[in-house]
Amino acid sequence: MIDSSPPFFSSPLLNQSSSPQFNCICLLNEIVLLSLILERRLKGFPLGLSMDFGCFWVGFLFISGFWRVAFGDQEGFLSLSCGGATSYVDSSNILWVPDSTYVSTGKTTSADFIEGGSSSRVPVRFFPDSKEGRKCYFLPVQNTSSLVLVRPHFFYKNYDGLGKPPAFFVSLGTASTATINLTSSDPWIEEFIWPVTKENLSFCLHPIPDGGFPVISSLEVRPLPEGAYKSGMDDSMIKNSLRKHYRVNSGYSNGSIRYPLDPYDRIWDADQNFSPFHLSTGFNIQLSFNLSSLKESPPLGVLQSARVLARRNVLSYNFRLDKLGDYYVVLYFAGILPVSPSFDVLVNGDVVRSNYTVKRSEASALFCSLKDIRSLNITLQNISFYPQVNAIEVYEMVEIPLESSSTTVSALQVIQQSNGLDLGWQDDPCSPTPWNHIGCEGSVVTSLELSDVNLRSISPTFGDLLDLKTLDLHNTSLAGQIQNLGSLQQLEKLNLSFNQLTSFGSDFGILVSLQILDLRNNSLQGTVPDSLGNLNDLHLLNLENNKLQGTLPQSLNRESLEVRTSGNLCLSFNLSTCNNHSDNSSLETPQVTIFSKKKHSGHKRMPIILGSLGGVLFALCFIAFSMFMYRRRRKGTEITSTPRIATEMHNSNAARVISYKEIKAATNNFKEVIGRGGFGSVYLGKLPDGKLVAVKVRSDQTQLGADSFVNEVCLLSQVHHQNLVSLEGFCHESKQQILVYEYLPGGSLADNLYGTNSKRVTLSWVRRLKIAVDAAKGLEYLHNRSNPRVIHRDVKCSNILLDLEMNAKVSDFGLSKQVPQMDTTHVTTVVKGTAGYLDPEYYSTRQLTEKSDVYSFGVVLLELICGREPLSHVGTPDSYNLVLWAKPHLQAGAFEIIDESLKGSFDVESMRKAASVASRSVERDASLRPTMAEVLEELKEAYNIQISYLASMVHVN
Ligand SMILES: *[C@@H]1O[C@H](CO)[C@@H](O)[C@H](O)[C@H]1NC(C)=O
Ligand SMILES: *[C@@H]1O[C@H](CO)[C@@H](O)[C@H](O)[C@H]1NC(C)=O
Ligand SMILES: *[C@@H]1O[C@H](CO)[C@@H](O)[C@H](O)[C@H]1NC(C)=O
Ligand SMILES: *[C@@H]1O[C@H](CO)[C@@H](O)[C@H](O)[C@H]1NC(C)=O
Repeated sequence: MIDSSPPFFSSPLLNQSSSPQFNCICLLNEIVLLSLILERRLKGFPLGLSMDFGCFWVGFLFISGFWRVAFGDQEGFLSLSCGGATSYVDSSNILWVPDSTYVSTGKTTSADFIEGGSSSRVPVRFFPDSKEGRKCYFLPVQNTSSLVLVRPHFFYKNYDGLGKPPAFFVSLGTASTATINLTSSDPWIEEFIWPVTKENLSFCLHPIPDGGFPVISSLEVRPLPEGAYKSGMDDSMIKNSLRKHYRVNSGYSNGSIRYPLDPYDRIWDADQNFSPFHLSTGFNIQLSFNLSSLKESPPLGVLQSARVLARRNVLSYNFRLDKLGDYYVVLYFAGILPVSPSFDVLVNGDVVRSNYTVKRSEASALFCSLKDIRSLNITLQNISFYPQVNAIEVYEMVEIPLESSSTTVSALQVIQQSNGLDLGWQDDPCSPTPWNHIGCEGSVVTSLELSDVNLRSISPTFGDLLDLKTLDLHNTSLAGQIQNLGSLQQLEKLNLSFNQLTSFGSDFGILVSLQILDLRNNSLQGTVPDSLGNLNDLHLLNLENNKLQGTLPQSLNRESLEVRTSGNLCLSFNLSTCNNHSDNSSLETPQVTIFSKKKHSGHKRMPIILGSLGGVLFALCFIAFSMFMYRRRRKGTEITSTPRIATEMHNSNAARVISYKEIKAATNNFKEVIGRGGFGSVYLGKLPDGKLVAVKVRSDQTQLGADSFVNEVCLLSQVHHQNLVSLEGFCHESKQQILVYEYLPGGSLADNLYGTNSKRVTLSWVRRLKIAVDAAKGLEYLHNRSNPRVIHRDVKCSNILLDLEMNAKVSDFGLSKQVPQMDTTHVTTVVKGTAGYLDPEYYSTRQLTEKSDVYSFGVVLLELICGREPLSHVGTPDSYNLVLWAKPHLQAGAFEIIDESLKGSFDVESMRKAASVASRSVERDASLRPTMAEVLEELKEAYNIQISYLASMVHVN
């Protein structure tokens, strides 16, 4: 009869648990349960149970359960199946719906869930693009003056086959509520109680560095009783959110209780996983509770069991809390015993209530809020008769930061939307973490840095950001007049440099807080207005490289202010000092725009595909096949008929089809990872003939992944060139999509330029030129000589691979586009590519041409010349963007920006040629860029010049 679950008897408290008291009361419990089920009359029990109660209780349960199910007492319930495709009703009669109308991003797939020997597929939604920021669900909350319970359920179960459970954090509204670490528990359930203040509640998932992709499988919203979970709180606490740590149905060990027994669908866990395990449980039935005084409305089914302790004993619960914080504890007591127990209640050793009495047939609760605790010991110390407790809830109190002003939020949203920017701005700009490009003090937005996007003009909306102290709009294609900033009275730093602004406008006189004003590299004309002299706090005024002329206002001529004027027509405090050679030819304004300041994810995380010789012929049928695939996918059907694909591929007499079994053997069961990318992981393998191969295993089950697999197989099979990687074979079995390339041991160009590992070799200028020539040959072939013509779309250093002789090959055609006909000049597409390499014209027009590859390749050339990555956050803001920084320098012949390690070892003419072709390749206007063939010719010349230079050096020596 005794609960004989192993954890119980393996408990170190076994000795105590053999106490006769325990057995007796436990026996009672079991028999009562049995009797309820069998409707048998109980007689002669020590605590004098009555049959009438038992029968009535069962009847009550039945009737109430029936009523709730029949009438669907679920008002306000929202149950989202994240990543699910269809609605369904579960065994508790709860309606589940797909989440797609509540979230606008993320990808869906499913994972295997094995429970009790049976396996099922559980849908999940994951957020691979979450580097751009938080990903939010917007949940409607019906009654704006109450409490809701929000219960997300996170599930990894290796859905991506990578065996890397993610970690991330989640927030509700402005409050950061919990860190989810699926390594320590999978699945993971959280429960929050939220005081509703408006009709939409956001629930967001936030990536953490190296934490992997946030993932979620379900999300439940349940209204809670009005006024609950507030007793015993002071005013500051009432505004908190609560995060559930424990909700224990004391004395009950047969599973958890929830809806419909709890109409609010809280989950009351069984009382068995808490240590030390206690000696006894009690059970009784009373129906006449007056629950109206308990705002929390605990279900009767929960109050009907209790942990009860025998005379002269101490009943205590110890709860582990995962972090130091403020906690809120609710203890429920119900007079289910024929006696009235009386005891002291101690929390962490302090008596919070002495001589607490549980009166027969009455239910009551004790509420405690505890500050700065890390563990919780609740002890009921006997005074007379049976200390008892019926249920316990333990919550962490989570402070809810203020929301930002709605004017600010809507202004920012307008800026994002009206400029077609995709900055990932959702929900509150400051809390729990500031948006990208935004800085906050508390809930106030104080800085906005939107450089490198396409704004065109300073719209009136900027004037609504009243609290801004810093506004940085450098390189945002602003033209015309400086305007709409007059209301920004807090503004201290204003950077409008590298635009095409032509006039000052009238705002400056009133921006009284301004300290730094950067207007360099614009097209400002005429004279500098006197009003700038009113800015008493100004200490740096940069007017360099404009078309200004005339005398500067004398009010600017003061000790505390630095005025920079070089590169204008003739601008000075004293016109006579203005000499004529101060040029008419102001530096050309750099015009390259990168679409967003995404964090550069670093070359190590980019796909590394190690290429091969030994390509194979592949029929053009693959284009047809990929169209077929594409249409199928668009219709939303899963590809299940993979054997057909394999057959088609097989029949086309092309790349070797390799079975999954062979691949497993070749890679020694995927033992050595040599790279990782958006597509999946890359493993080292060895074919039976001894050839080393790089095995690229597709991990995501998503649209882009499926398409790019097909795309790449098709392209690689048709395109052969010594400077392009080609395919050894592939595997396309049920869920497997694997590409096999020959292993290139030299690593990627990015590894060699920036890597820290031992494989890295120092790249001399001549080697760099050789690599550039090789890669240019590969790209030139793709553009002009392959059939079909191909635009690579993702040219970057991590996609240029080296063999041991430092021959370079271009890899990764996953994003490539075929140009359909010879006479077509462009393809209109969704913009794809890598930040830092992306052609600004392609970004703004969405028209893809070969010149987009030229741009990206130009960035690669700049990297070779300068030895740095395209986007970086070291140095000054003007140097963050390689193109913007390097192009004017190189055009001006300012070679001090060249990679330190090259100094003294290059021929100047060779460098000048390379710098020239690099600068022209990154022209903003695509028509001004050279073609790939021209790039190749010039690079060959630069290479030959350097070779002769080296040869002459040898002679001299
Ligand atoms: C919403 O809450 C108020 C109490 O603030 C209550 O009077 C009202 O009945 C609730 N409405 C619904 C639809 O639950
Ligand atoms: C997640 O948990 C694992 C093991 O419990 C730990 O090693 C890892 O550091 C945790 N990750 C984070 C981000 O906290
Ligand atoms: C536990 O609950 C299940 C149904 O949920 C029931 O079949 C079983 O008999 C119960 N066990 C005990 C010991 O009450
Ligand atoms: C909990 O508190 C009680 C009384 O203060 C004490 O006797 C008991 O040892 C404590 N338990 C733990 C595990 O600290």
